[in-house]
Formats: sequence, C-alpha cells, structure tokens
Amino acid sequence: MKTELCERFGIDIPIFGFSHAVEVVAAVTNAGGYGVYGATRRLAAEIADEVKAIRDAVEDRPFGLDLVIPDKVPERNDRAELEMKVPDAHRRFVEGLERKYSVPKPSAPGMRTRFIRSREIQDSQIAAVAESDVNMVALGIGCPPEVVELMKSKGKTTVALVGQERHAARALEAGVDLLVAQGYDAGGHTGQIGTFSLVPRIVQMAGAVPVLAAGGVATGRHIAAALALGAQGVWIGTAFLVTEEYRSHLSPGELDALLDAQAADTVISRAESGKPFRQTRSAWSEEWSTKEAPSPLSHPLHDVLVGDMLGAIIEHDIRPLQHYGAGQGIGWFDRLRPVSEVVNTLVRDGDTALAGLGKLTEQLA
Ligand SMILES: Cc1cc2nc3c(=O)[nH]c(=O)nc-3n(C[C@H](O)[C@H](O)[C@H](O)COP(=O)(O)O)c2cc1C
Repeated sequence: MKTELCERFGIDIPIFGFSHAVEVVAAVTNAGGYGVYGATRRLAAEIADEVKAIRDAVEDRPFGLDLVIPDKVPERNDRAELEMKVPDAHRRFVEGLERKYSVPKPSAPGMRTRFIRSREIQDSQIAAVAESDVNMVALGIGCPPEVVELMKSKGKTTVALVGQERHAARALEAGVDLLVAQGYDAGGHTGQIGTFSLVPRIVQMAGAVPVLAAGGVATGRHIAAALALGAQGVWIGTAFLVTEEYRSHLSPGELDALLDAQAADTVISRAESGKPFRQTRSAWSEEWSTKEAPSPLSHPLHDVLVGDMLGAIIEHDIRPLQHYGAGQGIGWFDRLRPVSEVVNTLVRDGDTALAGLGKLTEQLA
C-alpha cells in the first residue's frame, strides 16, 4: 500500500488520522501513518504545549495540526458583544430545553464558549502554529492565501479540506501541497456531495497536487476504493473515536452513543455550531428539527447560544441529549481498540482488497 505520497511525506502507509486527542495523533504517526491534531478549539499557549507533547511522543516522525479559519468571524474575543445579538426567541427555546430535560447550569463555559472564534483568536493560533515545529498544517474551513504562504515559508506542508469544486479551486489558487476531498459521509462539519462523487472530480482538478479521500473511509475496502478513485491516500476521523487513546475525551454517554450508532443513526444538523455538522442522532438534533424550533443561528453566534448548555449536558450526564460528531462509517466501530490495532486492520484489509482487485484485473485481461 506504499504510494508515491508515502515517499514524499516520509510515512509508511497513506493513512492520515485526524483527532482532537494528542494521544491518538501520536499513535497514528507511530503506527506509520500521519497523525493530525485538531487544534481549532485550543488557545495559542495550549497549542505550543500540545505540539511539544506530540513531538516528544513521535520523535522525528511527521505529524500535522488542523485549524478552522472561516472568513466571517467577529474581530474580537468578546462574548458580551455577541450575547447582545442573540434573539430572545432563541434564548427562550434553549431555556425551554434546559427545563424540559432538567439540565443544571455548567460549572464552567463549554468547549464552544471558552473563547469566541474571532479574528483575534485565529491570529494568535496561526502565529503559534507557524512558530511550532509541526510538519504540516491543515485548514479545515477557509484557506486564506496569506496563511498558506506563511506556513510554506516556515517549511510546513500545507493541506486544505474541500467539500466541493469551488473550495478546491480556491485552495489550489492559494498553493496548497495536498487536498483532502471530504464527502458527505464524513463526521463533523460536512458538505452535500458524496465521497464517491467528489473524489474523482477533485483528483481531476488537482492535476499534480495529490488528493486524499475522506468521508466514510472505515475499512480496507474503502482504502482500495479511494486509490481506485484516484486518491493517493485517505484521511480518517471517525475510526479513531472509539479507541482506547480517545476514551478519556468522551463522557460515558458520548461513548455509548458512538458504540451504539449505525450509519443511519447519524444526522447532519446546524444545531451544534450553526454550520452543518454530522453527529449521532439524539434529542438535541431532534428538538432542533421540530416545527416549533427556531432556525439555528449563524456561526459563531450559535456557539454563544448553545455552548454552555452543550457543556452542561456532558457535565451532568443528561443522556437523551448526549451525542457526538461522527460519520456514517461509525457502524464499523463497536468496541474500544488501541489505535495501532485500528491502523493495522485497515492496512491488512486494504492489502487484501487490493490483491483481490489485482486478481480481478488478471481474470479480465
Ligand atoms: C468529532 C469530529 C470533529 C471534527 N472536527 C474537525 C475539525 O475541527 N477540523 C477539521 O478539519 N475536520 C474535522 N473533522 C473532520 C475530519 O477532519 C475528517 O475529514 C472526517 O472525520 C473524515 O470522515 P470520517 O469521519 O468518515 O472518517 C471532524 C470529524 C469528527 C468526527
């Protein structure tokens, strides 16, 4: 399974693993793949410490870091300024949910309210990443050319996640080194175009720029299919959620939601962040899709509306409302395993699938 991309990026297998856990990122890299740390909800000082922790764990093997940089964000990290923009009807709806499900107040702001996604925060994150010794920088949403240029000038590989042709055109124009074509099946923020339809289109547009397939890649067969679609590797998030290394990042309710879910139990909802976000179905996504529910606010105003309640749901273990970002591939993962086992299974089954395709080619010849 060693593709050209492996040579170029100094890895043994063309598997990129996205995670919000330092432990998972290090384990993916140490298993021969490319771990990528989702740092968009981390402050600059935390990013510096966490990059160092990953570096200590992987030594000179490569790893990356992912930031989300949407265009339209407020200038300042000022919650009070945004609070004034939240409509009363939305506030009343959220208070109604708190009463209906007996959700106490959280003891601290939630993950989405510990700071406001703003130009001020983004600039400090970008500076911390540029100064760090991370090998690669991925941009999950938005692809500002000046950020690509800065990271390249620091010797870092640049990557953009794209969900449609328009995004790919912008990222290629900005000069990224690698594209991730992320289809509808994916967990977290996702678009409307299925992985099968998206990947060959982006490969065609990208020319000499390599493309990774993302969204629904959960088995070796998916990897073989991704290579057949023209991708040079895969980018995976969901498969690394139900792992021993990620366990401490999940509440008991979130872990159960992931273990129990099949593909049909995931749903795309704007109720999480204001942007379409695939997650396990729960009373949270259901309540926001009723006729009485207001339409979710824009991002990051919606964070301000729901961030504390989302934190309280986890802190106080409110089961019906617990959910987690997950892709349609989640049905393949129904027990906790070490990351190395997940990676090794993908590689073994991928090799088997590719060998099967080789035999098929011989038969057809
Ligand atoms: C819980 C969760 C959170 C995610 N957060 C981010 C993020 O912050 N930035 C990003 O670029 N991608 C994020 N993603 C998307 C992944 O980078 C990846 O593209 C996706 O998981 C691939 O599809 P899969 O979930 O089917 O494996 C997230 C995915 C999940 C499951």
